[in-house]
Amino acid sequence: MRTQSPKAERPEHLHLQVDLGQRSYPIVIGSGALADPLLAEHCAGRRCVLVSDQNVAPLYARTLLDRLALVDDDLIALPAGEQHKHLGSFQAILTRMAERGLRRDGCVIALGGGVIGDLAGFAAACYMRGIDFVQCPTTLLAMVDSSVGGKTGLNLPSGKNLVGAFWQPQLVLADVAALSTLSAREYRAGLAEVIKYAAIADPDFFDWLQRNVDAINAHDADAIVHMVATSCRHKAAIVARDEREAGERALLNLGHTFGHALEAATDYTQLLHGEAVAIGMVQAAQLSALLGMADAADTQRLIDLLSAVGLPSVAPPLPLDRLRHHLALDKKAVAGGLKFILWRGIGKAEIVSGVDERALDAVLSGQ
Ligand SMILES: NC(=O)c1ccc[n+]([C@@H]2O[C@H](COP(=O)([O-])OP(=O)(O)OC[C@H]3O[C@@H](n4cnc5c(N)ncnc54)[C@H](O)[C@@H]3O)[C@@H](O)[C@H]2O)c1
Repeated sequence: MRTQSPKAERPEHLHLQVDLGQRSYPIVIGSGALADPLLAEHCAGRRCVLVSDQNVAPLYARTLLDRLALVDDDLIALPAGEQHKHLGSFQAILTRMAERGLRRDGCVIALGGGVIGDLAGFAAACYMRGIDFVQCPTTLLAMVDSSVGGKTGLNLPSGKNLVGAFWQPQLVLADVAALSTLSAREYRAGLAEVIKYAAIADPDFFDWLQRNVDAINAHDADAIVHMVATSCRHKAAIVARDEREAGERALLNLGHTFGHALEAATDYTQLLHGEAVAIGMVQAAQLSALLGMADAADTQRLIDLLSAVGLPSVAPPLPLDRLRHHLALDKKAVAGGLKFILWRGIGKAEIVSGVDERALDAVLSGQ
């Protein structure tokens, strides 16, 4: 992964690169990145569809349609929200792609949060056995996490993200100006994933986040660019080393095993994904401390940072057996027990299996 200087004639956006050999691609970060000439260059001379949702499309789709000389029928605006990340939306995208005459040289542009990126990316992965796609993330979570790395997919009634494919985009445009219309709660949820990168592998970034809480809470543009760029650098580096999650990429799931169980146990109605991940990271830190792997002072630093940016660190009261049930369903469960991402302190995450059941129950029941 390397940083490139923007060329002189280009707008002053930060260009990073995900290094995956022939499938390498740039990530363009900055205010106004949606207008970066790379997008028009990428789409020139081929049929494209723009996939968005009904919250984002009225805000940002028109400009993109005009810039790319697309017509209204090239826009698919799906109902917004996780409950629409299903086969019906997937079918709607594929149907429109066929109606608009996309061929193997066609391109899908995803404009929205992680739901749209995952759905549109999966449609691109499947249409004619795989065509190009571009990610234009509009939530902080999508900018720092879901738009980079090529995981695409959708939910089935029996579980989240049960269907999907690894399919890398050709370009990611993270226009931080789009975050101005994002709700404060969704912005905070994205911060959980930012803090995750610091917690996994970057104590200096953790210090930076602590020092810059005021700027982060004020949605300061420079602070946001720094957070998005640092997060994307971490994600890109890990994906370049372990694209298919054979090992190290699993570290990115810090807080997610607990977080997914919390989301499922509350029927996906109480907590945003990032809020559940925030609580899950604290539970992972608590379990690490209980197992003697890490100092409890590090758990407290994590709780302090999460609460300084308005994220929760305590789980809502839930029956232990329900949490246990959902933990056991975790996709990352392996034969012989659950795998947890734990840490030896801030910046030192590890994959651990065979965790002591009593320590796990103590954490789950908040003791
Ligand atoms: N592929 C991956 O690697 C990966 C990683 C993490 C999460 N995900 C997936 O991402 C999804 C969550 O993504 P999300 O948090 O972005 O949720 P989301 O896509 O549902 O977006 C959240 C809400 O914000 C709205 N919105 C988006 N951008 C906006 C903007 N700029 N202004 C105003 N409103 C805006 C959306 O319409 C939606 O209502 C989940 O489905 C999760 O599984 C995927």
